[in-house]
Parts: sequence; structure tokens; C-alpha cells
Amino acid sequence: MTHAFPFNDLAALDALFSAHPGEFAAVILEPMNTTFPADGFLQGLIDRAHAHGALVVFDETITGFRYSEGGAQELFGVTPDLSCFGKGLANGFPLSAVVGRADVMREFEDVFFSFTMGGEAMSLAAAKAALTKLRTDNVIARLHQLGERVEAGTKALIAKHGCADFLGFAGHPTWSFLTMSDCNGVSSFEIKTLWMQEILERGFISVGTHNVSFAHSDDEIDRLLAAYDDIFPLLKTAVEERAIRQYLRCEPLVPLFKLR
Ligand SMILES: Cc1ncc(COP(=O)(O)O)c(C=O)c1O
Repeated sequence: MTHAFPFNDLAALDALFSAHPGEFAAVILEPMNTTFPADGFLQGLIDRAHAHGALVVFDETITGFRYSEGGAQELFGVTPDLSCFGKGLANGFPLSAVVGRADVMREFEDVFFSFTMGGEAMSLAAAKAALTKLRTDNVIARLHQLGERVEAGTKALIAKHGCADFLGFAGHPTWSFLTMSDCNGVSSFEIKTLWMQEILERGFISVGTHNVSFAHSDDEIDRLLAAYDDIFPLLKTAVEERAIRQYLRCEPLVPLFKLR
């Protein structure tokens, strides 16, 4: 019922539309994850979807209230037909939202939906407070500032320790990733496992993403970067010696999401 195409590849999307004319209801994607959208990609995708009678749905669960107050769509200047938001919307309280074009949203009037917590108002109050604070405390600008320190610091440490063959930095400063790749016969999963073991030992629970928060301080960013400064040489040695398992006190990670 679904087809996948690579991000930033409009030709692949064109090929799918041509292979299944008139069959697609919607194109759904995160407007950005690890990779910045190429110039014209998001608008090109919207134009193509509309030309083929399909809607565009942005999953802004993470990018919303993080990249900018209006999410990735505001940052990149495009307007999808529908979007979903969560997480930052109510600062962790259980609330999510589907929003979009009035004529499409009106379809919900014909759909019966009801749920136990439908009248729950506490999360709405939390959203109101969170969205007010976002503006009054200039939260987004602060997230950018913190994230840019993480980005500059991490990139500098990757270069300093000569780890660019197996470590990388990706994503937007407000939601970024320390990435690992296979190197010297050592798998990215083995490298990641050693990295997680070592970062945990230094007081951080992390899978490599940096979801910077208004609650973070510059001091905490410094501590994170000091931990990277400490761990990167160890990773380098383990990769060079092909001896990751020697350093591991657990089994290496296996992929969580698998295509069946
Ligand atoms: C991009 C993205 N979309 C959707 C979800 C799922 O959201 P929910 O748990 O509100 O269904 C997540 C959860 O982490 C997410 O990161």
C-alpha cells in the first residue's frame, strides 16, 4: 500500500507517479531529518503531488517548535496540505495535533472519532504555556545557539582526532546527529555500541542525537564536548586495531527497524 523514494530525489518520485497514475492519496515525509532539503526539493514535491491529485503531509513531530516556531515548513518557506505536530507542542505533555488546509480538515467532520481522554484539558494548558514561553523567552533562538555550539564543537573534535572516516555530523543544529559509518572492517553498529558504552559511563544517556533543549546550559554542552574529546581517541584506536569487541562489555547493537 505504500512506496518509498529517497529524500531529495524528485526523479524517483516522478517515476513512482508515472508507474501508478492516479493511485497515490498522499506523499508523507519528514521535511528534514539528517539531510537538508535541496533547493526546490520540497516545493517540487508539493507541485508534483498536486499535479497527480495527491496531498502532501509533513511529519513535524520533531522539527515542529524546534527548527522555528512554525517548524520546518516555516524555515524552508513551503506549505504542505496537512502536518502533524507533537513533542515540543506541549513540552512533553501528551498532546499531538493534525493541522492543515481547511477544506481537507473539514473531511474530519464526516469521520467519527472519540477517545477516553478526548476531553483532557491539562495538556492543552501545557501547550498554551509552552507556546507562550517559546515566544516570550526567545526559545528558538536559544536552541539555535546551543545547537550551533554542539555542531562546531563536535566537528572540531572529529577533525582534531582524525575520526572523519567513521564519524560524521548531520542534521539541523536544533536536532543533530553524531553519525557512524563502517570503517576498516568494523561495522557502524560496533562503533556505535562502544560509543554508547563510553558516553553512558561519562553520565550521558544518548543514541547520538542532540535534541537541544531550552533547559540545557552552556556548561552542559561543554561537558558533552569534553566527553567527546575523551572518547573519540578511544574509538579511533579501537577502529584502527579492529579491536572494538575487546573494549566492549556487551554484545554489539543490532538494527531496531528492519525492512521485512
Ligand atoms: C518523526 C516522528 N514521527 C512520529 C513519531 C511518533 O509520534 P507519536 O508517538 O506521537 O505517535 C515520532 C516519535 O518519536 C517521530 O519522531
